[in-house]
Amino acid sequence: MRIAVIPGDGIGGEVVPAVLPALELLGEHFGLDLSYRIFDWGAERWLAERVGLPPDALDLLASDYPTILLGALGDPRIPDMAHGRDILLGLRRGLDLYVNHRPFTPRGSDRAIALFRENTQGLYAGVGGTVSHGRHPAVAIDECVYTRETVEKFLRYCLRTLSESGRERVTLVHKSNAVPHTGRLWQEVFRAELARFPKLVGNEEYVDSFCYHLVRDPSPYDGVVASNLFGDIISDIGAALMGGLGLAASASVCPETGCALFEPVHGSAPDIAGRGIANPYAAATAVALMLDHLGHLPAAASLRRALAAAARTDSATPDLGGHGTTGTFMAEVMTRLEKNLADARPEPH
Ligand code: NAD
Ligand code: IPM
Ligand code: MN
Repeated sequence: MRIAVIPGDGIGGEVVPAVLPALELLGEHFGLDLSYRIFDWGAERWLAERVGLPPDALDLLASDYPTILLGALGDPRIPDMAHGRDILLGLRRGLDLYVNHRPFTPRGSDRAIALFRENTQGLYAGVGGTVSHGRHPAVAIDECVYTRETVEKFLRYCLRTLSESGRERVTLVHKSNAVPHTGRLWQEVFRAELARFPKLVGNEEYVDSFCYHLVRDPSPYDGVVASNLFGDIISDIGAALMGGLGLAASASVCPETGCALFEPVHGSAPDIAGRGIANPYAAATAVALMLDHLGHLPAAASLRRALAAAARTDSATPDLGGHGTTGTFMAEVMTRLEKNLADARPEPH
């Protein structure tokens, strides 16, 4: 399996190189035949050459590197993130990665809430513009666009995945009282698709009230499905419930082609970039999601066990209350991973 690695900007360039040795070790141990190629797409290239996602990138990835690991994009020198939109939203839309799975396990719980975010349309459809009076925009429009085809294939995939993985409840998060056109389309399709999965109990909540209840008590929630912007916001709340953005990861998938992009939920964190203290847990969890996707469940489970154990030591990064660095934390993870893998080896006779 050939993997495209895009470290990106800021702490993306710190956490991604830090987690690659774990991927290599797991690849060797489980005989996974993994190889990767690093792509330098990001702010430096944009500032030097005005190139975000190079013109041949989508074809190259789709044919040769259908599995992508991305760090983060974002640079204070590019305040509107034009390069990040070009690269990140370009990959999500260009490869039709319409399912964004962002699981999060609230502290004190042993079960992840399975959040699914639609990843290509809605307020991210790129439809809109400004009308200027003089040099300043007087009117600004960003349209929320949803096609029935995308809502249907997204919800059907999510409900099937939830049902097959033994989930019992699914919540549709919407805002049909204030944003009625797309809201009602989502509700209509949700109800119709739910009828195909008799084991799933569905309910519908307004996004504002959902966020209120989620923060107060996440325990009733199981599967959650949301449109693009709502899912973006809920995933940062989910990260906070886990214990920080340094922990949460995401998988963006096109179920039809198998193309998939794995990344932390967090951004380039300019406030801590260059200090060596970024938490690589989320990037390593993105690797675990990638191993799950490729069908290497034991490799993913070993990595998750090592991460959870290392996070409880003083080598953890400051966001987790430790005194470690990106490097010392991953060294702790590697030690535990090596031990787990050696213990799991059959005894020689
Ligand atoms: P951010 O997620 O980068 O940071 C938010 C806060 O969380 C910061 O205080 C940061 O220090 C902390 N944090 C994030 N990741 C951490 C980690 N691994 N370890 C420890 N602390 C961590 O959000 P922001 O500051 O709003 O955005 C910075 C830039 O990143 C912006 O340009 C934004 O557009 C971009 N961004 C990119 C992505 C992406 O590439 N997927 C996601 C979110 C934001
Ligand atoms: C994320 C980010 C992106 C998004 C930004 C950087 C465009 O916040 O991956 O969560 O809104 O999807
Ligand atoms: Mn986000």
